[in-house]
Amino acid sequence: MKRIGILTGGGDAPGLNAVIRAVTRKANNANCEVLGFQEGWKGLIEGITMPLDWSNTDSILPLGGTILGSSRTNPFKRESGVERILENFRRFDLDAFVAVGGDDTLGVADRLYREQAFPVVGVPKTIDNDLSATDYTFGYDTAVNAAVRAIDALTTTAQAHRRVMVVEIMGRHAGWIAAGAGIASGADVCLVPERPFSIEEVCEALKANRARGKMYNIVVVAEGATLKEGHTMTQAEGTDEFGHVRLGGIAPALAREIERRTGLEARHVILGHLQRGGSPTAFDRILGTRFGLKACELALAGDFGKMVALRGNSIEAVPLSEAVGEMKKLGEEYLAIIDEFTR
Ligand code: F6P
Repeated sequence: MKRIGILTGGGDAPGLNAVIRAVTRKANNANCEVLGFQEGWKGLIEGITMPLDWSNTDSILPLGGTILGSSRTNPFKRESGVERILENFRRFDLDAFVAVGGDDTLGVADRLYREQAFPVVGVPKTIDNDLSATDYTFGYDTAVNAAVRAIDALTTTAQAHRRVMVVEIMGRHAGWIAAGAGIASGADVCLVPERPFSIEEVCEALKANRARGKMYNIVVVAEGATLKEGHTMTQAEGTDEFGHVRLGGIAPALAREIERRTGLEARHVILGHLQRGGSPTAFDRILGTRFGLKACELALAGDFGKMVALRGNSIEAVPLSEAVGEMKKLGEEYLAIIDEFTR
């Protein structure tokens, strides 16, 4: 094994740089070079590279984002995308590839492995924590902590003005970040995509809460939360190259409706990309490092078509085909916690 390529694709997640550093360190220790490809699959299609070594990866551990850049490029939707990937793999004299990404990036890796025997190992990342084959993805812990810090701050102003503060949280069609943030911040109502809601129930819960003497309320709402009638809020027309709609905007609509129906003064905050930015927590740095080391070990051993995963407290290798396609939704236990405390 002489040279490993690596890319980071999809929405960035704090901890990506920990993976890049760990893959580089382990490969270099085994006398193997690492070549970074910039902006996800786009970098491999277009041959945009960045050599990685000890010195340019040593201090990146505390950095959010990814030094390689990222994009939501889908090679299967680009003209000759797959052919150009295979050509560049040969042109840059690579022996193995590490793809770091979520369901979309790893779905591409899986197809390339199955259809083209592309020698790839996957590393799961997403703040949404919605990949079924791993107990946790890095980025999630940082995102939840960012949301909790924001809600703690919003609580004092909500309290001062006796207001209802509606906070919109990312996570696409899974409620992990919203549930984590709602539970950890003691929100009064927590609305997640896994459980469609009615505005009437939310208003009843808030009124009951006030009747008990509470003077303010925090309502956490996941961007992908849906009304019982099946309505979801989207920000833009159309979809990205992987067919995803751009969710967002449920908080202002909900705040307006709460105020209209209950007479309680309501405000909203959309936390948006604040949840994806900034320095990774220690948990995410450690998980990213563990994933990176294991992925490099698999690549060095020629054990391709696998994704690294956290199972319990062990890092394991699972087939990429098992790892993609099925979204991990909030389980009954989390929904029960929400019921107990936040409705
Ligand atoms: O998948 C991560 C995520 O942050 C989702 O929670 C969110 O819906 C989406 O990405 C936002 O994507 P973009 O950065 O393209 O607006």
